[in-house]
Amino acid sequence: MGYNFSKRTNHFTLPKQWASMRVAKQLEEETGKKIIHFEKGDYQGDDFETPQHILDATIEALEAGYVRYDPGPGLTELREYIARETMKDRRPGTQPEDVIITAGAKNALTMTLLTLLEDGDEVVFPNPGYPPDEVWAKYANAKIHHTPLNKGDWQYDLAKLDKMITDKTKLLIINTPQRPNGQLVENPEEIAEIVLKHPDLLVITDEIFSQVIYDGKEHKTIASIPEMKDRCIVIDTWSKTYAMTGWRIGFAVANQEIITKLSIFLQDSITNVAAFIQRAAFEAISGPQDWTIEKRELLQDKRDLMVKGLNEVPGIECVAPPGSFYCFPDISGTGLTSQEFTDKLVVEAGVAVVAGTAFGTQGEGFSRITYALSDDDIHQGIERMKKLFAK
Ligand SMILES: Cc1ncc(COP(=O)(O)O)c(C=O)c1O
Repeated sequence: MGYNFSKRTNHFTLPKQWASMRVAKQLEEETGKKIIHFEKGDYQGDDFETPQHILDATIEALEAGYVRYDPGPGLTELREYIARETMKDRRPGTQPEDVIITAGAKNALTMTLLTLLEDGDEVVFPNPGYPPDEVWAKYANAKIHHTPLNKGDWQYDLAKLDKMITDKTKLLIINTPQRPNGQLVENPEEIAEIVLKHPDLLVITDEIFSQVIYDGKEHKTIASIPEMKDRCIVIDTWSKTYAMTGWRIGFAVANQEIITKLSIFLQDSITNVAAFIQRAAFEAISGPQDWTIEKRELLQDKRDLMVKGLNEVPGIECVAPPGSFYCFPDISGTGLTSQEFTDKLVVEAGVAVVAGTAFGTQGEGFSRITYALSDDDIHQGIERMKKLFAK
């Protein structure tokens, strides 16, 4: 029997950026050989367990009865804390009513895109960027434009951005620290100048790695510019800051009118993020932050190890990214395309990575490599790569 699916889902395909993970898993099952997982957008291994005090708070919350429906934008104490502390410098003047708790950043992004976009609206994405956003923009029948980031430093080309944005543009998407390349958006003030020329233009600022920034650098956001406060939807998550990727909890901060719409969306779709998870998230955000600080240092060491190793592989050049847990090396010296590089590496060396092109056309010649895993796996993966490309 053929099913008559909604035409709006015609563009649905399994996520490209997870294709390598699927191939790696299949190879592992078929051959029994250990694959080195440089492709995952997640923490791996014993170095990155969710902190114990957060696990304890979860159990306490379950025992205290946080197990019922709790429709609405989220637990009051959590929204208050985010407004008062988390957003203090990132969006001064934030009120609890400007905050909604969502099932991860992805859920916040989906709801925001579906709430704001409609037929023919123009939306500007970075290239390379975060593909799931585009799925929902397409679903809403919006017109997608890609603003190329400068290859190498991955900053916005302001002249091109200025030209691309018109009065028909409804949304600009920024992510900083950027995925997939780990670079920080250095010039939010200049981007804001362009945005402010257009009275109705809004900005989604996806800041999921806001706490994973190295070398003493600081997170900068366009939402902190006073004129941008009500033009921005700031999105963040517990996933990367506290190794809570599977817990599915994040938040969005924006003008109350937007948050009220999102709250209705949330209540009519998933009702609420599990109440005991919200309590655990409160402990995470308001309790001791030692884990986040220690792991940031550990990740910085792992980044250095990975960057040094990658630069020793023939045909690969890698700069040290200041944020996230990804490297985005230039692999063009191997003479392969991004996809050929990915396929050869997993089949011939048992190392899984993600092709740069999974994040947009500008990713050609690059590869996304995760270093949030054990030092042993980093060493092993690099050795396998050196051997393969020494041939
Ligand atoms: C840019 C970006 N936004 C959003 C997400 C989703 O985050 P969450 O786990 O909170 O849904 C990811 C996940 O890696 C991401 O890279």
